[in-house]
Amino acid sequence: MSEFTPRYLADYQVSAFTISTIDLTFELDDTATKVTSVMSVKRQGSHKQALVLDGEHLTLLSVKMDECLLSADDYFLSDTALEIPTQADEFLLTIVTEINPQDNTALEGLFKSGDAFCTQCEAEGFRRITYYLDRPDVMAVFTTKVVAAKDKYPYLLSNGNKIATGELGDGKHFVQWHDPFPKPSYLFALVAGDFDLLQDSYVTSEGREVALEIFVDKGNLSKAEHAMASLKHAMAWDEETFSLAYDLDIYMIVAVDFFNMGAMENKGLNVFNSKYVLADTESATDIDYFNIEAVIAHEYFHNWTGNRVTCRDWFQLSLKEGLTVFRDQEFSGDMNSKTVARIQNVRVLRSQQFAEDAGPMAHPIRPEKVMEMNNFYTLTVYEKGAEVIRMIHTLLGGEGFAKGMALYFERFDGMAVTCDDFVNAMADASGTDLSQFKRWYSQSGTPHLKVREAFDPETSQYQLTISQQNQAGETFAAEDCLHIPVKIELIDADSGIGQGQLLELTGPEQTWTFAHYQAKPVVALLGDFSAPVKVDFEQTDLALEVLMLAARDGFCRWDAGQKLLCRYLHKLVAEPDYSLPESLITIFSKILQADSDPAFTAEQLTLPAFGEVADQIHQVDPVALVNAQKKLKHFLAAGLQQQLTACYHNCRQKTGLSQQQAIGSRALKNICLSYLAVLPGAESLVTDQFGNAANMTDTLAALNAAAFNNLAGFDSQMSAFESKWHDTPLVMDKWFTIGASLNSADIFERLEALLKHPLFSIKNPNRARSLIGAFISANPKYFHCQTGRGYRFLAEQIKRLNEINPQVASRLITPLIQYKEYDLTRQELMLEQLKALRALPQLSRDLLEKLDAALN
Ligand code: ARG
Ligand code: ZN
Repeated sequence: MSEFTPRYLADYQVSAFTISTIDLTFELDDTATKVTSVMSVKRQGSHKQALVLDGEHLTLLSVKMDECLLSADDYFLSDTALEIPTQADEFLLTIVTEINPQDNTALEGLFKSGDAFCTQCEAEGFRRITYYLDRPDVMAVFTTKVVAAKDKYPYLLSNGNKIATGELGDGKHFVQWHDPFPKPSYLFALVAGDFDLLQDSYVTSEGREVALEIFVDKGNLSKAEHAMASLKHAMAWDEETFSLAYDLDIYMIVAVDFFNMGAMENKGLNVFNSKYVLADTESATDIDYFNIEAVIAHEYFHNWTGNRVTCRDWFQLSLKEGLTVFRDQEFSGDMNSKTVARIQNVRVLRSQQFAEDAGPMAHPIRPEKVMEMNNFYTLTVYEKGAEVIRMIHTLLGGEGFAKGMALYFERFDGMAVTCDDFVNAMADASGTDLSQFKRWYSQSGTPHLKVREAFDPETSQYQLTISQQNQAGETFAAEDCLHIPVKIELIDADSGIGQGQLLELTGPEQTWTFAHYQAKPVVALLGDFSAPVKVDFEQTDLALEVLMLAARDGFCRWDAGQKLLCRYLHKLVAEPDYSLPESLITIFSKILQADSDPAFTAEQLTLPAFGEVADQIHQVDPVALVNAQKKLKHFLAAGLQQQLTACYHNCRQKTGLSQQQAIGSRALKNICLSYLAVLPGAESLVTDQFGNAANMTDTLAALNAAAFNNLAGFDSQMSAFESKWHDTPLVMDKWFTIGASLNSADIFERLEALLKHPLFSIKNPNRARSLIGAFISANPKYFHCQTGRGYRFLAEQIKRLNEINPQVASRLITPLIQYKEYDLTRQELMLEQLKALRALPQLSRDLLEKLDAALN
């Protein structure tokens, strides 16, 4: 099992054969599902190579070429392939395989989620269903017949349009589907089960009616309304923004509880983690609502960016993911507060993607070497990929970008293409030279901008000099320089009026001169976070305070405050007794008084995340950082107590707000609560909010405050919550998460108890993440404790998951492989666990790839 070999982008070759149609029949059975596949295969080119089909975890029952049944001497069978050394150029191939969905705990291919059957084929799961050319540039027309018992599986679904249904003997029935759009196997889907069905419809601007169907577990119908509304908004948005309309007569979404990721854009039949479908105000938070809207839109947008135009090979994954994330971010910005949505994107990049880009698994947004493709569904490919698309949007402008999109579809509709194809379409449509820009696709690491300024009162000239450097702080050689859009704003010191501009940094160092300034202006850099870079620029506290209040760009107002807070966190990490200046209180008091959008004020008051600050400090002592955060929080809470209290009650009393206003008001109220809860005597405020909360956002804010400060009411609140929500899995995930983030010295005993809780199951990815994932990300104090017990706990769970679900194991190992971020004591403790894991027999390809990257 250990002769895994990497694959390289440079080795790409077109497929030796094509498959134009595939006709599938599934006879569903928990442990022995029979899959019959009939394919029209054609040789591509004039070679004499054998046909090599991918296949894993399959039992081969028979192979027939045209009318001739093959015997075992006619082909070679291995653990990963079926090789047929034929000379024929064109033939019909019939393959029958048997698979075991019940035992499929990896949740790739065909598996059971509760009582339902469902599939996940991206990236390479289809080869666990039948032998096939399982690569995205092989595109076929799929016809799929599903046969199952009618009582247990009244709904039998697959891609495209329903073309036949019928009753069979022994209580069985069948449904046959046909998808007219040729597609790669990763977009294939099948679902069978008994569901509640929410139906609606959407009429395109051309007047075509599309049936919309959302399938959820019985009893959850009312929780699908928000997903349905989000879907309709997304459909309208894509028509308005990019003139892209839906292309089939039916669009189906199925929500399942067992799913490795967020959701999957299978043609006409999206399969979703129920977390991104189900919501009502009682059981879901405002953030859940936001995320559902975003993921529903993301999968819908894939119908064009992903399905109609797909990837030539998996190294091009960002072609569809970066672009589709950019599209869903823009949509979310239009549906909600644009600035707040943008701030959330930046938080994810800074607190997680930057660390990935600096760690052992760093890769360009278009990776060049891959061992296990599932390891490359990363923050880099998705989020940094979206930033790269956003930079193209910034350089070309909205109109130029729209023209580029139109040309992209004109050239490539129905094809499997590359990232270069996309960038070329953008360049050609807008007449912009993007040749240097393409380096963003092949360089890994977060670039640094080093900024200097100079002001000459004699000439009234202000000069800004920016150089670009790599991660290590070395100035880029000319041939490595990136094309970086830098939005700036110069704020006049007297009038407070700002002037915006877009600078294009293309060389190692460039200087821009601005005339007619009587006094030195204050510069706001990287407006709207115009590039995914770090900025080294020493602005004074005073300059940052000016920006916090006066920058026109909302991102820059927020960012200046975060910079100020980071500055003092750094000081506190270096010197725990450092005494913080009163000026911090003064400025944040002004923020609280300013008449801003409450949702935005809440962002300004939110302290930079652990991961974000850790990323800025070389070999950080994680516990020193946790203490610094705590100290800063106390300082601000104590200094602003009166105002925070007033603001808290003010928000609580507000009535008659719109949905959007209510969300903002709750965010502001709950950030106030999180400060007030650190002060002595805050117990009653938290208890009161917990007792009177009318929605999940407020309930969780109270519980989080109780957990973070280990308040006395915590245990009884947790049991009340558990009794109430015992039967609602998504809410119990939240319960496990809070249990794992408790700030208490007996946390390890508690974690053991949670692992044994009757509702805990490591086989359910949401549940596993809600406990293990929450502990490692929300409880840094104990995860990083000096005894190494936190790391040991994680390694034990990864060891279990290695055999059950390698994808989940491989995600959870992230903080361990990024060990170089931490001080030498932690590094050693983490390395010990990494080495122990590396020595496991039967290590999955997913973990092996990461462990080898970390240990070499
Ligand atoms: N294409 C899906 C999405 O972005 C995600 C598929 C993830 N697959 C995986 N093996 N991790 O919506
Ligand atoms: Zn996607």
